[in-house]
Amino acid sequence: MKHSLLIAGLGIVSLVAVNSASAADAAKGEAAFKKSCGACHSVKAGEKKIGPNLAGIAGRAAGTEAGFKYSEGFTGVSWNAATLDKYLADPKASFPKTKMTFAGVKDAAERADIIAFLGVK
Ligand code: HEC
Repeated sequence: MKHSLLIAGLGIVSLVAVNSASAADAAKGEAAFKKSCGACHSVKAGEKKIGPNLAGIAGRAAGTEAGFKYSEGFTGVSWNAATLDKYLADPKASFPKTKMTFAGVKDAAERADIIAFLGVK
């Protein structure tokens, strides 16, 4: 009896470990964000860079930071994990006239990490 409980318990622990290894990793996302996005974007509220501020980007409608001059047509989606994933994979496919001069993040796992870091669901 004691034995089977112990074995069941170990099974749960290893399942949890496997799950968290494959899930998006916000800490890795932070490093990737610094490397690929940080030159143009800040996640500190109010800090201005070349690109729009990304604090509170989750659920925000695209193209709506007050005072930022977006390119023509940068509108029509609200930022969730799916729209942001699509945008980051190939920015020009979502917004042909975007002035975000960035080729995109080709690695899906890296995109998921960045999206987790930004708190977008
Ligand atoms: C070379 C500068 C640059 C880099 C690098 C860059 N961006 Fe951007 N980003 C911009 C600009 C400029 C815009 C505004 C786009 C427009 O108006 O067409 C933008 C727009 C965005 C938006 C839309 C924001 C809104 O208010 O709707 C998101 C989200 C975004 N970028 C995320 C990222 C992420 C995540 C990365 C890194 C993987 C990244 N960007 C890399 C310059 C950059």
